Amino acid sequence: MNPLKHVAIIMDGNGRWGLKYRNSRNEGHREGINTLEKIIKESLKNNIKFLTLYAFSTENWKRPKNEISFLFKLLENFLQTKIKDLHNKNIKLKIIGTINFSKKINRLLQSSEKITSKNNKLQINLALNYGSKAELINAFKLINKNKEKITEKNLIRNLQTKNIPDPDILIRTGNTRRLSNFLLWQLAYTEIFFEKKLWPEFNESDFRKIINNYKKIKRNYGSI
Ligand code: FPP
Repeated sequence: MNPLKHVAIIMDGNGRWGLKYRNSRNEGHREGINTLEKIIKESLKNNIKFLTLYAFSTENWKRPKNEISFLFKLLENFLQTKIKDLHNKNIKLKIIGTINFSKKINRLLQSSEKITSKNNKLQINLALNYGSKAELINAFKLINKNKEKITEKNLIRNLQTKNIPDPDILIRTGNTRRLSNFLLWQLAYTEIFFEKKLWPEFNESDFRKIINNYKKIKRNYGSI
């Protein structure tokens, strides 16, 4: 049985769900929060140590203004109402990506990280304004600036995911098979599960099925 420490998720399909059932993409994002809460609970139950969630990519800035501001309003509301609860559950929140939003959001993200910084039951890495290519370029720039050698070890130390083990599982919901600039380096040996359901339809039982299937896989890492 494979040990399971780290699950990464591309939460895709909110827009399509919202259009289909509520005639509004934004309502799909709102519904997506419910799934997020279910998956956090299930991660705690399964003793998962790291949950990395792709919430907003560097490319998502191309979306209509109204959708972007709705997403950040949801984020603001989520943190304001749930951070205490996350803290009480011994969950640590870490942002990966570049924090350069409104002053209010920046402060809220920084204070949420600070409040939960000593927690150690589960670490949630929220990828916001995150792009893997930008992360890699930045890591190489740091290596160059510090006159370090280009080695795997030095590269890993300069990624935003330093001190986080690579994901064991990547789940992408929404019936789309691509990585969308997410953790390209870190996913080198990750087991990937593409899920037909849209993110708001995904539930604890779907998550458990993936975990059980993952546990039975023979992971070779290039060996036999
Ligand atoms: C992708 O679905 C989803 C996003 C870009 C945003 C994910 C956000 C949430 C789950 C809720 C907000 C998160 C937090 C932490 C407050 P899509 O819009 O690309 O769906 P589509 O492929 O159907 O258009």
